[in-house]
Amino acid sequence: MCGIVAYIGKREAYPVVIKGLKRLEYRGYDSAGVALLNGGDLKVYKKKGKVAELEDHVVGKDLHSVLAIGHTRWATHGEPCDRNAHPHLSGDGKLAMVHNGIIENYAQLKKELLNKGHQFTSDTDTEVLIHFIQEIKKSNQCSTEEALRIALKRVVGAYVILIVDEDNPDTLLAARKGSPLVIGVGKGEHFLASDASPIVEYTKEVVYVNDYEIAIVKADELILKNISNEIQTPYIQKLDVELAAIEKGGYDHFMLKEIFEQPQTIFDSLRGRLDAKAGKLTLGGLREHTDLLKEANRIIIVACGTSWHAGLVAEYMIEELCRIPVEVEYASEFRYRNPVVGKGDVIIAVSQSGETADTLVAMESAKEKGAIILGVCNVVGSSIARLSHAGVYTHAGPEIGVASTKAFTAQLAVLALIGLKVAVEKGTITEQRFQHLLDELEDVSDKVAIALELNEQVKKIADKYKDARDFLYLGRGYNFPVALEGALKLKEISYIHAEGYPAAEMKHGPIALVDENLPVVFVATKDSYYEKIVSNIQEIKARKGMVIAITTEGDQIIPGMADDVIVVPEADELVAPIISVIPLQLLAYHIGVLKGLDVDKPRNLAKSVTVE
Ligand code: F6R
Repeated sequence: MCGIVAYIGKREAYPVVIKGLKRLEYRGYDSAGVALLNGGDLKVYKKKGKVAELEDHVVGKDLHSVLAIGHTRWATHGEPCDRNAHPHLSGDGKLAMVHNGIIENYAQLKKELLNKGHQFTSDTDTEVLIHFIQEIKKSNQCSTEEALRIALKRVVGAYVILIVDEDNPDTLLAARKGSPLVIGVGKGEHFLASDASPIVEYTKEVVYVNDYEIAIVKADELILKNISNEIQTPYIQKLDVELAAIEKGGYDHFMLKEIFEQPQTIFDSLRGRLDAKAGKLTLGGLREHTDLLKEANRIIIVACGTSWHAGLVAEYMIEELCRIPVEVEYASEFRYRNPVVGKGDVIIAVSQSGETADTLVAMESAKEKGAIILGVCNVVGSSIARLSHAGVYTHAGPEIGVASTKAFTAQLAVLALIGLKVAVEKGTITEQRFQHLLDELEDVSDKVAIALELNEQVKKIADKYKDARDFLYLGRGYNFPVALEGALKLKEISYIHAEGYPAAEMKHGPIALVDENLPVVFVATKDSYYEKIVSNIQEIKARKGMVIAITTEGDQIIPGMADDVIVVPEADELVAPIISVIPLQLLAYHIGVLKGLDVDKPRNLAKSVTVE
């Protein structure tokens, strides 16, 4: 949510920053802008729309610079327009700032600044902050760095900010609290960004800045200080991301590439952990916390969006396998309703980005109350990973498409491993079922590859239904969260209204929507609910609804009832969601593409939602 990039060094800074912004565009694309510093000459260019529109806007302008900051915005305060685009300038025009996050007490600060005669050109909280820093600098007669430190002590909210100062053209200032910031360390140059994707092609050495740290960055020097002005030692880590992982690699869209990567990413999420032949399961990341999980009174899964859907599948898995009560909470609701949490509770935070503010805040509050926190994250070194006591990475690789696909199936695979590990340690699973599920998980990547062969068929179905106004997605048991996920994918990518429901719940209300114009997608693979869902399909057909059914190989009944049938390989019901979601991802993708929409960057969305 909002991407920030900066470069300081001997190269031309603008091309580095603009390329970085393109890599971060999945975080927001309402507007984009850059501030360029060449000696004492500060220039700011910004434009509503995507980074490409900024590039058009700067044609013919002087872009020469050795220090630059850039921003791609997901609007929070103020509508998306040129005026509200970052960077924002201080009142004297000497400081420029980009910001990712929200300054919650900006209204109070703005009032104070207005009383002192400041005038604002935008509606943003960011402009208030840079004016505030300038005001402190003036009244305290101090350096920008000192003014920043004083300002941050009064700021309430989350931020990563980057500041360039016309009077200090060889220094870049950065600060973080609650939003991510990575610094790439090169030879005589530094790269700063919201994540590693703009950095990986230049250097593999990075420093993840911690909350309440300020970075003073020169071409050949990186100083980290805490908010009390004490020097911190930067901890340099090696990135293990390759450039190919963040490029489209011949696919039309990142989303399609990521859907097709799933046989490999699921395999990667299981690699080194699952050895079906030896009947073994190793989860090094859980360490001694496996015992705590085993003895937990209750497991609470906190997550948002697609990750929340993965949590719902995990609820079914863990309750079945481990006989531990599981609650799945929307992180945003969990935090603010003063939940009853304490010792003996284990929280599992599920997140692709590891930066989702709602999930982070939920974890923080549960941690304060004494709960053990485990993270199931995709991004190594992310805030959620660092806040967790222990955890398991999903290893799906960078997910760039805004709609989550491969991260979801990797989450399902990892959550299944956690459930199995605890069950086997707790003795709530028979040896035979344990071995069967290990074998099923070992085979799942191949079955996903077979499901991907349905791509052309799904494309034809997408064409048939692309003009529908609404969709209903129904499933039961393990497939109910899959129905929710299918509906969410369609909404995000095609802007078609879609609802997911437990299939049996349909008759308690949503059935009123059913007529000959309503496509109803049933996730109806062979499982313990099969007979029941067949009845639910009949109920829809009796009301002339159009049924698209995801069924299992060998099904003799549903193909005779549904208008369109998508047949996926058979699997144990606990593993089946990893496979049955594939055609739903493809359906959403193709409908979006057929409608001419930007599926990688759906309107109003951003990946990595770093505001609450
Ligand atoms: C949907 C989607 C979002 C995210 C949600 C949580 O396709 O991507 O619903 O799942 O914003 O994000 P993470 O998993 O990064 O915490």
